[in-house]
Amino acid sequence: MTREIYIVGNWKMNQKISDIESFFNAMKKIKGKYNCHAWVAPQAMHIETCLKLGRDNGILVGSQNCADHQSGAYTGELSPLSLKDIGAHFSIIGHSERRHIYGEVDNYLNAKTLLALQSGLWAIFCVGEKLEEREAGKTNEVVKRQVTEGLKNIPSEYHDRIIIAYEPVWAIGTGKTATPQQAQEVHSFIRNELLEQINLDAKAISILYGGSVKPSNVKELLGQNDIDGALVGGASLKGEDFGKLCMPE
Ligand code: 13P
Repeated sequence: MTREIYIVGNWKMNQKISDIESFFNAMKKIKGKYNCHAWVAPQAMHIETCLKLGRDNGILVGSQNCADHQSGAYTGELSPLSLKDIGAHFSIIGHSERRHIYGEVDNYLNAKTLLALQSGLWAIFCVGEKLEEREAGKTNEVVKRQVTEGLKNIPSEYHDRIIIAYEPVWAIGTGKTATPQQAQEVHSFIRNELLEQINLDAKAISILYGGSVKPSNVKELLGQNDIDGALVGGASLKGEDFGKLCMPE
């Protein structure tokens, strides 16, 4: 497996059907010209619409979250097996909004990741420190705990479907991007000091950066040795912007 470039749109709780149609119409104009894998994660009720519209554009579709159980009495949850069944390709797991608004903790995220992978989905596993943690010099400690606890005991047969996203919480939706050097430092820490310790192939895994990525800063971020793509919120909602992220000039 080689490291590849992924641009993933996390649409969060946004986009009506008309917005989604405009998005895919814009992407159709640059079909075949992206120099990356282009993936989107819409709200769950729009996954099938996106699957239909994304098919012709080569855009793969996934979920923003998934459950830690496959089926049963779990009202409101999204089964990884059912996601796979309808054609979803991946699930984002452990996004900072899930960790900090909904209280999702390391063990729970570990169970979700394992189940998503067992179901045949790719897992985009998110980590990142809060502002006070960065200011207290605890970035590496926090990221280390999130990676080692969240990805522990994942059988090696699934390793080639894991992508890591480093999203410093203070850079999400704030317009404050980590500088390419700040991001590179943490990516390099994850890759060189961490992944091998938990038996993941550090050279092969793609590590995406997330947090206020936009067309004007994507190229410099992607120019860093250990940044293999981006997980993008706000700037992924419009096809015109997402297209620019997928084919930076
Ligand atoms: P923004 O790109 O809006 O900062 O969001 C980043 C993010 O949370 C992607 O998952």
